[in-house]
Amino acid sequence: MAVVIVVGVQWGDEGKGKIVDLLTEKARLVVRWAGGANAGHTLVVDGKKYVTRLIPSGILRSGVTCVLGEGMVVDPAVLVEEIRTFRAQGFITQDRDLVVAERAHLTLPHHREIDRLREERPGSIGTTKRGIGPTYESKAARIGLRVGDLFRPERFRARLERHVTAIAPYLHELGGAAPNAAEIASSYLALAEEIRPFVGDASRTVHDAIKRGENVLFEGAQGVLLDLDHGTYPFVTSSSTTAGGACAGLGIGPTLIDHVLGIAKGYATRVGDGPFPTELSDATGELLRKRGNEFGSVTGRPRRCGWLDLPAVRLAVRLSGIEALALTKLDVMAGLDRVRLCVGYRLNGRTLDEMPLDADDLAAAEPVFEDLEGWPDAADGAVPPGAARFVARVASLVGIPVWATSWGPGRLQTVVEHNPFAG
Ligand code: IMP
Ligand code: MG
Repeated sequence: MAVVIVVGVQWGDEGKGKIVDLLTEKARLVVRWAGGANAGHTLVVDGKKYVTRLIPSGILRSGVTCVLGEGMVVDPAVLVEEIRTFRAQGFITQDRDLVVAERAHLTLPHHREIDRLREERPGSIGTTKRGIGPTYESKAARIGLRVGDLFRPERFRARLERHVTAIAPYLHELGGAAPNAAEIASSYLALAEEIRPFVGDASRTVHDAIKRGENVLFEGAQGVLLDLDHGTYPFVTSSSTTAGGACAGLGIGPTLIDHVLGIAKGYATRVGDGPFPTELSDATGELLRKRGNEFGSVTGRPRRCGWLDLPAVRLAVRLSGIEALALTKLDVMAGLDRVRLCVGYRLNGRTLDEMPLDADDLAAAEPVFEDLEGWPDAADGAVPPGAARFVARVASLVGIPVWATSWGPGRLQTVVEHNPFAG
């Protein structure tokens, strides 16, 4: 048995959903610990495409329990829609397929409204506008509502009343309408009925499964470089995306974790604002965007594309204690004559091997590139020698092994050298 944390080591969209889906073949629980409906994992199984928002990617495997942890923020309208969609497709056949933490915080309609209004103003950072930041703000201000409140209607209404009184002046300042507490109560309490069978103590569920010796997989959302504390503030999300966040988000002690794995794309993407030293604003960037279908799965925004940034990966590896890397979407890069790896930065006459985290320093940093020969499409699953050299070079420059490579969206187009749940 093993308890494994998987995190994205870039700015999200590393193809985590696909790798996690593969690992869930041997996992009993798949757990998310932070963020909310800002995440979007795209999975392709038997040629059919599935997108998850709040629910972890394990949902496509029968016998796997998916857990939405205490550190998450839950938009019940999105959750109910997801539950209905997966049910209609033959998944979530029993109550124990899904556990939603009763202590997770609720995203309310005006959290989305605040996010949207702020994004129209100077100082916007290009959020997903799903109300994530404002929900965490309410949580930290101790005026938030939680999933469990939905099942104590009197308390829900009383807390909502206090919440609305506290937040209305801010909404007014932004030019938004005052929240209508009665309307929110009636729509949220109605949605609650569809969530009720799944609500419980996620922390205890996960802890007990670990104690029983089950394989448990913690699935990171977003990417380590978007971490609230350790990312390029303020161009970050509002939660803890590092591996340590998994322990905090579920109330699980770090002594119970066995392995931490990282996932990187063979190139880099970023959605939203913030410095991105290896960004390609040319035809190659356009090609990667098109071939890699690099458009936000939540927002549809074109993702900014660039070369793989190893100083950024090294930082993420350090911040999360990552032992091995998966490299995804290597098929997207096939056909390029030359591929580039950013191996360091130049800043103020100095060479840096790790990405600086001050946003202004990062904007001023000059990437130092190493050029490698490209590779053609992988024929019959054989890894082209050029691609094998690229993978080996990444492992050597980051200083940890590459345990899996991915050559296309399907389950079978992945080469796993070492499955952490095997043996
Ligand atoms: P928020 O999480 O919606 O507040 O957005 C903050 C920043 O994180 C923005 O740059 C978003 O584009 C980025 N972001 C949030 N979630 C994801 C994700 O799942 N993938 C990639 N970027 C994300
Ligand atoms: Mg995504």
